Amino acid sequence: MRNGPRLRRRLWWVVFGVFSILLLVDFSAQQIQQTVVRGSVSATDLKSDVCSCRFTQPRLQEQSNSRTARTRDHAIFDLPSRDRGWRWLVVSFISAEWQSRYGSFQGDVYEFGVASGNSITAIREAFAEYGLPRPRIWGFDSFQGLPPELPGISRPLGWASGTYDSSRQGTSGYSCDRTPSGGVKCKGSARPLTFEEQIRNMDYTHKFTRKDTNFIQGFYNMSLTAELPVHLGMRPALYVDIDCDLYVSTYQALDWLFSSKLIVPGTLIGYDDWCLTTLGTAGESRAHIEIARKYKVKFRCVVGGCSNKMLLPGPKHNFHTMVSSKLLNPVFVVETIGHNVDEGMLTYPTKCEQQSNHWQQV
Ligand SMILES: C[S@@+](CC[C@H](N)C(=O)[O-])C[C@H]1O[C@@H](n2cnc3c(N)ncnc32)[C@H](O)[C@@H]1O
Repeated sequence: MRNGPRLRRRLWWVVFGVFSILLLVDFSAQQIQQTVVRGSVSATDLKSDVCSCRFTQPRLQEQSNSRTARTRDHAIFDLPSRDRGWRWLVVSFISAEWQSRYGSFQGDVYEFGVASGNSITAIREAFAEYGLPRPRIWGFDSFQGLPPELPGISRPLGWASGTYDSSRQGTSGYSCDRTPSGGVKCKGSARPLTFEEQIRNMDYTHKFTRKDTNFIQGFYNMSLTAELPVHLGMRPALYVDIDCDLYVSTYQALDWLFSSKLIVPGTLIGYDDWCLTTLGTAGESRAHIEIARKYKVKFRCVVGGCSNKMLLPGPKHNFHTMVSSKLLNPVFVVETIGHNVDEGMLTYPTKCEQQSNHWQQV
């Protein structure tokens, strides 16, 4: 009988012990969670066990699967006034086609060639101005500049290996000037910024957070692995922004996207440097053609420098009624995959050819 209270006391200690352990486990889980979800990067965020690269860890638990409705009707903006770049044309297309095509499209934005993050901000600002839901963006870069081009393929003189090295931009004792051959010439001996430091700077300048903007560091031949899309929870591409200049980089980026099935009918692909290399035999245009053939893609050029007609000054009589005579960059929509090949551009616009011839190619 005297054992009764002792037994109860013991039972009470057991319950108390289990409760404390549960509390401790929950606290540790929250600590880990906080490391992953907070806005800045930590070593945990950057660890990679799927590629010989580093990446920031997205806040997947906060990502909604349903797209919120747009907040504004499609508007017509006058481009390129008010300093709006060609990427606004892309977002204008998405906005104009929102009801019929993109409202139910569960897609992400992929940018190849991030450097200091300015073009990601341009994309995000355009989405906001058109009243579209904030997209989730993935940025891929070595954060050390360009790799060498493949032997036998030409490139503008200024695009030597190491050009656009963002690890030194903005560091004291280091300055860069644009060259007439389309590159940048830099001087100085500043310590290169680490990937982590570059992310911190971009987060500070552009207000990026891991909720909607994440980065994969590394040269594409190493960083674009088959496991990456599943590991990071990537969704089909709503828009792919190609700003990695070289043939080799563009080919690797597109090949990875198509082989991972991240590009689907409806995906838009915009090229920042299409007209800066020899057309069809080098640069982004060559990679585009080869990928169209490899994956039997039917492309349709929809905005920007698609044809001479689209580059005539003045408003166009189609959905993106806006001035775009200076915006040579072509943007293609993927119509079908695995059936007919159509590169989406039969002849290059004269202005594009002129620009390609203007730069010295080596
Ligand atoms: C012209 S810059 C991008 C500029 C940026 N989009 C902007 O508007 O601020 C080109 C970028 O592509 C990156 N890049 C090119 N080829 C690459 C490759 N094969 N792997 C990783 N990064 C690459 C370079 O590091 C460089 O930062």
